[in-house]
Amino acid sequence: MRALGVGILGLGNVGAGTVRLLGEHRARIEARLGASLTIRRVLVRDRARERAVDVAPELLTTDIGAVLGDPEIAIVVELMGGVEPARSYILAALRAGKHVVTANKAVLAERGAEIFAEAARVGRAVVFEGSVAGGIPLLRSLREGLASDRITGLCGIVNGTSNYILDAMTRTGAGFADALAGAQAAGYAEADPTLDVGGGDAAHKLALLALVAFGVQVDPATIPTEGISHITAFDIRAAAELGFVIKSLAIGQRDEHGVSLRVHPTLVPRTHVLAGVQGAFNAVLVQSDALGPSLYYGRGAGMMPTAVAVVSDILEVARDLLAGLYSGPGRSGQVLSATSAPVRLRPLADVVCAHYLCFRAPHVPGVLGRVAACLGRHGVSIRRMSQETPSDDGSAAMVMLTEPVADGPLAAALVEAALPVTRLRLLPGD
Ligand SMILES: NC(=O)c1ccc[n+]([C@@H]2O[C@H](COP(=O)([O-])OP(=O)(O)OC[C@H]3O[C@@H](n4cnc5c(N)ncnc54)[C@H](OP(=O)(O)O)[C@@H]3O)[C@@H](O)[C@H]2O)c1
Repeated sequence: MRALGVGILGLGNVGAGTVRLLGEHRARIEARLGASLTIRRVLVRDRARERAVDVAPELLTTDIGAVLGDPEIAIVVELMGGVEPARSYILAALRAGKHVVTANKAVLAERGAEIFAEAARVGRAVVFEGSVAGGIPLLRSLREGLASDRITGLCGIVNGTSNYILDAMTRTGAGFADALAGAQAAGYAEADPTLDVGGGDAAHKLALLALVAFGVQVDPATIPTEGISHITAFDIRAAAELGFVIKSLAIGQRDEHGVSLRVHPTLVPRTHVLAGVQGAFNAVLVQSDALGPSLYYGRGAGMMPTAVAVVSDILEVARDLLAGLYSGPGRSGQVLSATSAPVRLRPLADVVCAHYLCFRAPHVPGVLGRVAACLGRHGVSIRRMSQETPSDDGSAAMVMLTEPVADGPLAAALVEAALPVTRLRLLPGD
């Protein structure tokens, strides 16, 4: 039986899960592939650290050269995280003739153009199912399952931490700070949660989704991104009274005018399929011409769910390798149709959708009329409105749902109203 060597960079959560699955399913993998997969080296920073999985000590190394220089290693699995040295190691692996599997959204979202170009140049694969929505076979579904269809939009919950926090706020009435502390205590949020609750992690994933779904390379820094830390218990309750649940969504749309991408908290109708996604689960709703809507749901992170995606990538590369598909340049795994030049996104100002507005104003006669007049002057129509009784400081909350409106006129009206306001978008079409 043929044997393919695997080198793993990183033995943390996902690395340990990957080693465990490769061991537990060895017989099934061999039967499926007609070849064995052998872990030949595992790169770590600290060889003495206790690990979540048993690995023969002689396989552990702190020297990347031991992985890259081993001619028996055909597939390098990068599970270290971060941009450097992951980027340098991936490029070096490709140049050493290895194929690369990674779950590292940060390095691909920020340095993907360089990595995919190098993979295409040397004729090696870079596959990355685990980098978006953990164990859910989402990228493979977009790439293979919808290969004969045209994807026009996607919209989803791709950051489990943000969903866990918003879900806790919805269920318990807690404020953001308490819900975040609960998520940290339960292991669903990092000590520094900025990348998750600020929307940066979702923007990285949306850039990769856009690459696979729309074939465009986008700098994640150019994706309009709004986090969830300003959402209050009041907003959650007011949205619920209007029939909505607040979710942090990554949204991508493609039409004849181009591609628009954005990440922001969104009011989703209580009956919408994404409204029922609880806890740290992920779900992505995809719209394509021929199939129509399709939904991908499951655990978007965690040791074993993510390892499932990583091992399926290893198997895909191994299968293609054994079939002799990597004999020359030009094949770069999942991104064959990607454009080479980064695209300019349509500005957020072009997006037309209904809005939730919550003004805080002194409870004095005439304020409501003044706000309504400002909105009216800029062509913003109000669909529904309610007013909360004054709080101890004498201010009242005016909650409004607008009809669909473009960003520009609404922003101008809000400047003119000159009152503290929380403004959240509704799902397009609602
Ligand atoms: N955790 C998840 O649920 C999840 C889900 C989807 C995607 N991912 C992605 O999967 C990747 C791995 O995540 P993780 O949670 O498994 O990370 P982790 O637990 O922090 O593990 C990282 C591993 O990489 C090793 N490492 C880091 N820098 C290194 C360096 N310079 N040289 C050698 N080894 C180095 C560490 O070695 P030491 O142990 O010796 O320090 C550790 O074993 C990340 O890109 C992450 O975004 C994770």
